[in-house]
Amino acid sequence: MPVVGDFSTIRTEIGGLSVSELAKQFGTPTYVYDAAKIIERLNDLSAFDAIRYAQKANSNIAIVDLVRRHGGLVDAVSAGEIHRALAAGYKPGGEPPAIVFTADIFDHDALALVVEHDIHVNCGSPDMINQLGEVAPGRNITLRVNPGFGHGHSRKTNTGGEQSKHGIWHEQIDDCLRRADQYGIGVTGLHMHIGSGTDLEHLAQVCGAMEKLALSVGRTVTNISAGGGLPIAYKQEDSFIDIEQYFGLWDATRKRLEASFGHKISLEIEPGRYLSAECGYLIAEIRAVKQMGGNTFYVVDAGFNNLARPIMYGSYHPISIAPVTGDHQRGTHDVVVGGPLCESGDIFTQEAGGFVAKRTLPVAGVGDYLVIECAGAYGFVMGSNYNSKPLAAEVLIQDQEAHLVRARQTYEDLLRGESVLPRD
Ligand code: LLP
Repeated sequence: MPVVGDFSTIRTEIGGLSVSELAKQFGTPTYVYDAAKIIERLNDLSAFDAIRYAQKANSNIAIVDLVRRHGGLVDAVSAGEIHRALAAGYKPGGEPPAIVFTADIFDHDALALVVEHDIHVNCGSPDMINQLGEVAPGRNITLRVNPGFGHGHSRKTNTGGEQSKHGIWHEQIDDCLRRADQYGIGVTGLHMHIGSGTDLEHLAQVCGAMEKLALSVGRTVTNISAGGGLPIAYKQEDSFIDIEQYFGLWDATRKRLEASFGHKISLEIEPGRYLSAECGYLIAEIRAVKQMGGNTFYVVDAGFNNLARPIMYGSYHPISIAPVTGDHQRGTHDVVVGGPLCESGDIFTQEAGGFVAKRTLPVAGVGDYLVIECAGAYGFVMGSNYNSKPLAAEVLIQDQEAHLVRARQTYEDLLRGESVLPRD
C-alpha cells in the first residue's frame, strides 16, 4: 500500500531541496514536481499489462517524458495532447498502441492528426466511427462505453450515466458495430471510465459491465481498459484504494474473457491523478496578512488562475508553510488562504458551494512561502490568464536537481497574437 503523504504544516523541503531556495531561484508562484513520486506510483500499478497515463492531469512534456521513460503509455484527448505525446518521444503504433486518442468528438485538427500519424482512436461517440471510417477505412478502434452508471469526487467529475455526455451508450453497441463494419473497421479494444476520484465500490462494478460488453462484442476484442479514476489521499483520513484487490477483480474478468475467446486479452489502466497528484506542490509567497473581523487571511501570489480545483469543486488540498527564515518553531492559528484575483471566490480554503473555511496553519508573515500540496494533477493544466496573470513556472526535481521545465510566461507571451484595430 502506498504511504499516505506527509500532512505536516511546515514544509522545508521538496525532493531534498529547500523550498525557500526553490522559491528564490524560480520565483513564485511556481509548480514544483518530484519525479520520484511519479515513479513510485507507476510502480504501484505494475501488475497491469499497460499503464496509460491520462496526460490531461499534467501534460508538461517533461512529465509525459518521465512516464514514457518508466514504461508508461499515454492517452491524448486533443490534437494538442497528441503533439505533446510526440514531443515527449512517444512513437505512434505498437501493441498495445503507445498513444491512444480518447475523445467524444473529433475536431478537424484531431481527425487530421490521428490519420496522419496512424494513432489508435478510442471513440466516445458513434459519429466518430463514421468520421474516421470516411478518411481511414480498415483501421482498428476502441469503443469507450458509458455503462449507464458513474461516480466521481464531484458531480462534475462523474462520467457515467444518462447525465454524462461521455462515451457510447451501452445499449448502442450493435449500431456501432454495424457502423464499424461498413468501413472495415475492427473493434479491438473496449474502454470504460466512470469518473474521476471515485472509490473501489464503484470501480468494482465496472468489471461486470465490461465483461458483459466484451462478450457481446465478441472475439475481435484483444484489449480492455479499466479507465482512470483512482483516488488519492488529499486528507489524512482519506485512504488509498487497495490496488492489489482492484487488480485482482480486473484480472479475474480478463481471465474469464480469455477463456471464452481463446486468446490473450491485455488489461490497461488509465490513471491521471494517481500518477501525478502527489508529486506536485504549488509554491506561493504570502504578500499580505489581513484581519477581517474574526478571520485572519493569508493572501498569497497564487490564485485560482493557478489552481482552480478549490473554486471549481470545493476541493481540499493540504497546505503548509515554508518559513523564509530558519525559524521553524511557530505557533499555529486558524486562517483563510486567498489569492490575488479580483474575485471573492479566489480562496483556497473553501468547501463545495463556495463556503469559506479556515485552516490551522503555522503563524506566518509577509515573505514566508505557502505551499499547496497534492497539486500535480489538474493543477497547472487548468490554469488560466484570468486577471492577466502570466502562467506559472514549472520545475521538475530529479535526483535532487531542480530543472525548469516551463519558463514562467512573460508579459510579451501574454499579449502575443492580440492587436488593436488600425488607427486612422
Ligand atoms: N480517462 C478518461 C477517459 C478520463 O476522462 C479521465 C479524466 C481519466 C482517464 C483520468 O482520470 P483520473 O485517473 O485522473 O481520475 N479536473 C478534475 C478531474 C477531471 C477528470 C477528467 N477525466 C479534478 O480536478 O478533479
